[in-house]
Amino acid sequence: PPLDEVLNLHDFEAVAKAVLPAKAWAYYSSASDDEITIRENRAAFQRVWFRPRILRDVTSVDWSTTILGCKSSLPVYISATALGKLGHPDGELNLTRAAGKHGVIQMIPTLASCSFDEIVDAAVPGQPLFLQLYVNRDREITKKYVQHAEKRGVKALFITVDAPQLGRREKDMRMKFVDDGAGAKVQEGQKDVKKDQGVARAISSFIDPSLSWKDIPWFRSITNMHIILKGVSTPEDAILAYEAGCQGIVLSNHGGRQLDTSRSGLENLVDIVAALKTKGPWPNPNFSVFVDGGVRRASDVLKAIALGASAVGVGRGFLYAFSSYGQEGVEKAIQILRDEFEMNMRLLGARTINEIVPEMVDASALRSH
Ligand code: FNR
Repeated sequence: PPLDEVLNLHDFEAVAKAVLPAKAWAYYSSASDDEITIRENRAAFQRVWFRPRILRDVTSVDWSTTILGCKSSLPVYISATALGKLGHPDGELNLTRAAGKHGVIQMIPTLASCSFDEIVDAAVPGQPLFLQLYVNRDREITKKYVQHAEKRGVKALFITVDAPQLGRREKDMRMKFVDDGAGAKVQEGQKDVKKDQGVARAISSFIDPSLSWKDIPWFRSITNMHIILKGVSTPEDAILAYEAGCQGIVLSNHGGRQLDTSRSGLENLVDIVAALKTKGPWPNPNFSVFVDGGVRRASDVLKAIALGASAVGVGRGFLYAFSSYGQEGVEKAIQILRDEFEMNMRLLGARTINEIVPEMVDASALRSH
């Protein structure tokens, strides 16, 4: 269908399903085991209800914000999703170009199809970029990669901590991995690639399962970028991250692709914020809490912010947008979210992100399921 018939982010998913080759659809859409967590990511948002305020003169509303010190036109960033060229010949560059044009921040994946430098080169001057990191068993490779990223101006390092081994995504495992050029070139020298077990397993054997809290000071010693742990699920680990001197955490279950029947980031948010409040000022200018998983509407984002998130990540929403329509699709997705923020903030009675407060939602049913 022509792009102007796309009305929301769900529509991109339907188009992507129809147009993508079977292997790409399997890799992008799959989640682990029985795919219960991926369903829960969406369902959780539907158990939070708004408590809109009225008569507040909402003539002008502003949904722009600052994420880790970087200006962002939306309280949303583009989360890292690997292997963009499975979906479109320009891969991740579709995201970089659209993000640069519209003031949105992209998190570059370690396992991008395009090289890191190609992506940075596609950014406009001053465009903020984040980097998602899978830590290599060979720390020298990781050190070089991180320091190169910092030199090229990347602002924040999101270390993925929920994937010491990749989850079993059976839809994807039923596909054979054929190297068609979409694979990540950055992980050269990989041995024992398991080509008969899907895309995810074929590309991930370099990831170091020995990664532990002891490594965090080492990361601090090799970079001045903000360090954020991506894939935190409990108050206990949120506090460890805070005490380890990280600048933030992402409450995420990797889009349902790792430990199945983990709770959604949104469900974990309330307890984690409560725990962090006992440790320091709130909101804490030196420690940000992000959420991702199942975000498809601005209303989802507003709920997460009301419950204490600084911003949220969107993975598949943008991935499906460029798989269907390239850069234009991503621009359209950003435009759709912008329109939804305008309307929903007016209806909610919040003129700025700071005016979105916990009293604007009823989350009493969130964990009762
Ligand atoms: C991901 N995600 C991910 N995360 C990460 O840290 N490194 C990675 O390489 C990838 N790759 C990846 C590929 C694909 C196809 C998907 C769908 C997801 C997880 C991603 O960053 C994010 O946590 C989720 O996508 C958020 O959920 P939604 O928005 O997809 O529902």
